Amino acid sequence: MAYKLLKGKRGLIFGALNPKSIAWQVAERAFEEGAHIMLSNAPVAKRLGEVEELAKACNSEVIYADATNLDDLEMLISASVEKLGGKLDFVLHSIGMSPNVRKDIPYDNINYDNYLKTLDVSALSFHKVLQTCRKLDAINEWGSVVALTYIAATRTLYGYNDMADAKAALESIARSFGYIYGREKKVRINTISQSPTLTTAGSGIKGFGSLYDFSERMSPLGNATAEECADYAITLFSDLTRKVTMQNLYHDGGFSSMGMSEEAMTQYDKSFEECK
Ligand SMILES: NC(=O)c1ccc[n+]([C@@H]2O[C@H](COP(=O)([O-])OP(=O)(O)OC[C@H]3O[C@@H](n4cnc5c(N)ncnc54)[C@H](O)[C@@H]3O)[C@@H](O)[C@H]2O)c1
Repeated sequence: MAYKLLKGKRGLIFGALNPKSIAWQVAERAFEEGAHIMLSNAPVAKRLGEVEELAKACNSEVIYADATNLDDLEMLISASVEKLGGKLDFVLHSIGMSPNVRKDIPYDNINYDNYLKTLDVSALSFHKVLQTCRKLDAINEWGSVVALTYIAATRTLYGYNDMADAKAALESIARSFGYIYGREKKVRINTISQSPTLTTAGSGIKGFGSLYDFSERMSPLGNATAEECADYAITLFSDLTRKVTMQNLYHDGGFSSMGMSEEAMTQYDKSFEECK
């Protein structure tokens, strides 16, 4: 159901690769809610993804840019403002990648070049996007910037590897930059901490199936889907949340407040019965 919450707003959405992507769902919902959007992804996504199809469906365009490259970002953000006919009202950072995760290299035998890449792509890119937007004065007052994160930023979940460190940095950047951009331009910056979601990036995590199942059993409302995450992001881009900033907002069916659920306990007990 559409409420036209973003009527007339302009937005830039990073990270839609295929229909499973959280950013893909956000783009579709933003368009439905009346926004004019630009899409961006890494140059490699041109070959791997289906983002051009999304652009057609959302009356949008794709500008390929490496979010770790400041020249690319400057080109992208200036072109977005020009093509949309005015400053941005919202930005979605939905970017993550760890070469250590991809290559199944464990955290305690990490490759440091890969580690730097993880941090650059998954965390510093958020700072780079914000710094470039501020430099170009590309976001309207009361604009809203959202990045996607995961609870492994603050609690250890086996298998999440160096992405946990990247998410911790990402959440901190939202607070540190949120203060500066809020004070100067009333721009709000938040992170959504999303449930495990069946996407290309998500499925790359070691033991993702078990993690997904565990949090499904632990959360009173069950895991949140990518579509539900998109609904939540829309509220943060809308004028209904103008005083929400510098927050890490859990969108996880209640998982972050749980210790042990009846369903998880039953499964745990069963595993011992099987061993007898
Ligand atoms: N899937 C999950 O379980 C889950 C849970 C919580 C948070 N998140 C976060 O959500 C965000 C989106 O991931 P997703 O699950 O939709 O997976 P996804 O694979 O669809 O999206 C990740 C995107 O990052 C892009 N990307 C990678 N390197 C880039 C670069 N250098 N420049 C620009 N873009 C680049 C990819 O092309 C891709 O579109 C990520 O930050 C991820 O960590 C995912």
